[in-house]
Amino acid sequence: MNKGFFISFEGGEGGGKSSQITLLAERLQQDGYEVVRTREPGGPPTAEAIRQILVGEATTALSDLTELLLMNAARAENLDKTILPALAAGKIVLSDRFADSTRAYQGAAGGVTPDIVHAVEEMVVSTHWPDMTFILDLPVAQGFARVHERGEANRFEDKDLSYHDAVRQEFLAIAAKEPERCVVMDATQPLDIISAEIYSMVSKKLTLKVGHG
Ligand code: TMP
Repeated sequence: MNKGFFISFEGGEGGGKSSQITLLAERLQQDGYEVVRTREPGGPPTAEAIRQILVGEATTALSDLTELLLMNAARAENLDKTILPALAAGKIVLSDRFADSTRAYQGAAGGVTPDIVHAVEEMVVSTHWPDMTFILDLPVAQGFARVHERGEANRFEDKDLSYHDAVRQEFLAIAAKEPERCVVMDATQPLDIISAEIYSMVSKKLTLKVGHG
């Protein structure tokens, strides 16, 4: 069993994942935990280089299978170099996206069949699923309005609303299938309300984990 605790943050664009990760990291550090923050695609240098191919400014259209494999190559690197060593050292890992994003973007919304997504997932993620996953859920149009306000956009944000709605529905379906791991948060609520709820749920789980040794 890992000594550490692994939490992923998922959801469509503009749901506030990175703000929530910052707020949670601060509170956990105040409580004395060592926190490692990462993101996907990305994390260690090679995975960040793969990110540039996937969502960088110079990127071009990739085949569906290439996209799936590159997301997973970056993930294999992130697990090997960042996530698993941190967990083995008893740290808390906060990841901005993880394998649920591949199910949603490349699988449900993209062109890869669920059996292929699953086969690659088994190989790369294996048993290393997060202990908790927060899905920051909000209507696609609202998320996009926030992204455009920030002046940010990536290749995936060029896709149409139906693509992003399929992403959203898949995250909700994952949460319904895996209620032990996943918590859906209403991301239209104010930032501080969401962060207080997340902190409270995480603290409870951490206490239980220590309690059970
Ligand atoms: P973000 O850093 O703004 O979340 O951008 C990463 C983009 O990559 C986002 O549009 C979702 C996409 N993505 C996938 O399509 N599949 C994946 O497995 C991951 C981790 C991200």
